[in-house]
Amino acid sequence: MKMGSFLLLVVLAFGLVLNVSANAEVDVLYAWKTSLVDPNNVLQSWNASLANPCTWFHITCTSDNSVTRIDLGDANLSGPLIPQLGQLPNLMYLELFDNNISGAIPSTLGNLTNLVSLDLFLNRLSGSIPSSLGNLPRLRFLRLNNNSLSGSIPESLTTIATLQVLDLSSNNLTGDIPINGSFAFFTPASFQNNPGLKPQKFPPPPPMFQIAPTPSAEGPSSP
Ligand SMILES: *[C@@H]1O[C@H](CO)[C@@H](O)[C@H](O)[C@H]1NC(C)=O
Ligand SMILES: *[C@@H]1O[C@H](CO)[C@@H](O)[C@H](O)[C@H]1NC(C)=O
Ligand SMILES: *[C@@H]1O[C@H](CO)[C@@H](O)[C@H](O)[C@H]1NC(C)=O
Ligand SMILES: *[C@@H]1O[C@H](CO)[C@@H](O)[C@H](O)[C@H]1NC(C)=O
Ligand SMILES: *[C@@H]1O[C@H](CO)[C@@H](O)[C@H](O)[C@H]1NC(C)=O
Ligand SMILES: *[C@@H]1O[C@H](CO)[C@@H](O)[C@H](O)[C@H]1NC(C)=O
Ligand SMILES: *[C@@H]1O[C@H](CO)[C@@H](O)[C@H](O)[C@H]1NC(C)=O
Repeated sequence: MKMGSFLLLVVLAFGLVLNVSANAEVDVLYAWKTSLVDPNNVLQSWNASLANPCTWFHITCTSDNSVTRIDLGDANLSGPLIPQLGQLPNLMYLELFDNNISGAIPSTLGNLTNLVSLDLFLNRLSGSIPSSLGNLPRLRFLRLNNNSLSGSIPESLTTIATLQVLDLSSNNLTGDIPINGSFAFFTPASFQNNPGLKPQKFPPPPPMFQIAPTPSAEGPSSP
């Protein structure tokens, strides 16, 4: 018991000395900040010693101080996405378009089960699209266009029933374009400018939509 409380004191003292935050979302976002190059100082307000990240610029929270939005589009940021970004359980909007973000899309983003919008377009992302993104049950906007993504389009994305806007154009994707599930609604514009993608092959329309020849189609018989 005595040894236990001594260890607890040591841990607490280290926590104070190292200024370790008591808020898991502060830890995630501050770890990401330290991995980024931010020439325009848009992350200046991201101070790790605050009790939560809700007063930081470009962050929006729920009423009980959990992050719902990261709005950092067109912010001139360079650097990677880190796997810990998957540990923001209430995140709905991840808006990082038009930066200089590089490296792979972490598969852990598939844990963001409240995510509505994943906007990573106009960056320098590489590697493949993680199939774990198919686990995002509320995703409506998935825009990954104008990166250097390669590999095939995961079939799992077809199972996201809520998906309304998909843009995978201007990447380096290869293989077949899925046509079932949510993908039945997307046109070639969602996939254009990926030289290695095979064109969509739509199945023949079901018989009820085929125009059957009828006697009247030959016109009225002349008297
Ligand atoms: C971070 O916040 C603490 C506590 O409010 C403050 O003392 C410190 O000066 C701030 N650091 C920066 C870099 O703004
Ligand atoms: C972006 O940052 C670079 C330095 O890395 C700077 O030269 C450039 O002017 C910045 N662009 C904008 C639009 O702020
Ligand atoms: C983009 O990021 C790379 C490093 O990943 C860096 O070398 C380059 O200067 C950055 N470009 C701009 C415009 O910030
Ligand atoms: C999140 O996702 C990754 C990869 O999909 C998985 O390995 C991990 O266990 C998940 N859970 C947490 C809490 O990160
Ligand atoms: C995306 O890439 C395509 C092909 O390189 C280019 O034509 C288009 O202008 C880019 N989109 C934007 C918004 O820059
Ligand atoms: C696409 O892949 C080819 C072959 O690996 C490579 O030469 C090219 O630079 C890539 N293009 C982009 C935009 O990543
Ligand atoms: C679409 O087809 C693929 C491959 O057959 C399958 O893995 C996926 O679950 C299907 N999607 C739906 C929504 O049925």
